[in-house]
Amino acid sequence: MIKVRECIRGMREYHSPLTNAKVDLRLDLNESTTGCSPRVLAKIRSLDSKLLALYPRREAGEKLIADFLGLEPAETFLTNGADEGIDILCRAYLDARDEMIIVVPAFAMYEIFAQASAAKTVRVPAMPDYNFPVEGILQAITPRTRLIVITNPNNPTGILAARTDILRVLQAAPDAAVLLDEAYFDFCGETLVDQVGRIPNLFVTRTFSKAYGLAGVRLGVLAGHAEQIGLLRRIAPPFNINVFALECLAEALDDREFVKAYVNQVRRTREWLRGELEKMGFKCWPSETNFLLAYFGELRLQILQGMEAQGIALRDRPDCEGCLRISIGTQQEMERALAVLKEIVAQKPAWQAVR
Ligand SMILES: Cc1ncc(COP(=O)(O)O)c(C=O)c1O
Repeated sequence: MIKVRECIRGMREYHSPLTNAKVDLRLDLNESTTGCSPRVLAKIRSLDSKLLALYPRREAGEKLIADFLGLEPAETFLTNGADEGIDILCRAYLDARDEMIIVVPAFAMYEIFAQASAAKTVRVPAMPDYNFPVEGILQAITPRTRLIVITNPNNPTGILAARTDILRVLQAAPDAAVLLDEAYFDFCGETLVDQVGRIPNLFVTRTFSKAYGLAGVRLGVLAGHAEQIGLLRRIAPPFNINVFALECLAEALDDREFVKAYVNQVRRTREWLRGELEKMGFKCWPSETNFLLAYFGELRLQILQGMEAQGIALRDRPDCEGCLRISIGTQQEMERALAVLKEIVAQKPAWQAVR
């Protein structure tokens, strides 16, 4: 029988959570429930059949995104979602037994891609209250460290790392690629994209899956020093960006009012929900993203299952004890979610505030 590589034999299949057909409000994947800009949709609807017959050319798109980020096209690489950028970095910088440092709890894909390179994942636990463990990362750096991932703000916690701390990591590991995953940038505005090209080991990734409401289109960008991006292009498929993503990019970037209005709504609704949950005695961590991490203690499973039974999916986070992650939808959707949650909690009269 043919055999896959040793490192893949030890891996398990990764599935995104559920696909329970009864769920009509998905608050488990940090997607936008609002959808994309109407201008983007109109552009996609206008595409003609001949265009779909051609291989897509991403060069024009890279010029657009470079201008948007204040970078050179040679410093940007459009990716099939931020996921592809992470995959390419792992393939480019990690040999077998090399080390990748991540902060846990973490977004799942880093470890999966590193495993496929037979690299070792070094997990640095977040500080109390999930704060960024800068000292822990500095201590974890070894001569085998080839990649360090900093998710800012972090998923699943929503916590932001300080710019000075990120700069310390970049300086401490000049021989390692440092990926700053800014998937949730639009909700917080903090970035190190201004340092791309100046700091040779810095890479920044962004996605159109969150604030732009384009998760289904699959579009992201990886920015880095031109020399390094040039090396990464060697292993990238030439047609990794589909025609829908490329054709709608200009409209997506141009309709800033849409993104701004959506982000403002998410922030307002997030803070409202946080206040409501805290009034009920459930601790929430301060979030700079489109989701909240909330502590439900021993009620966690009851709430997760009860909500799902009512058509609402939340995300279980066994890596954050007693917690669920809740994506923020519209105000109306979150009012519905809160009402269901209150019903579930009310079913257990003996229950007392868990924290
Ligand atoms: C931190 C982080 N990075 C990357 C991604 C992947 O984004 P994309 O949909 O662009 O592949 C996600 C998606 O949830 C994420 O949370």
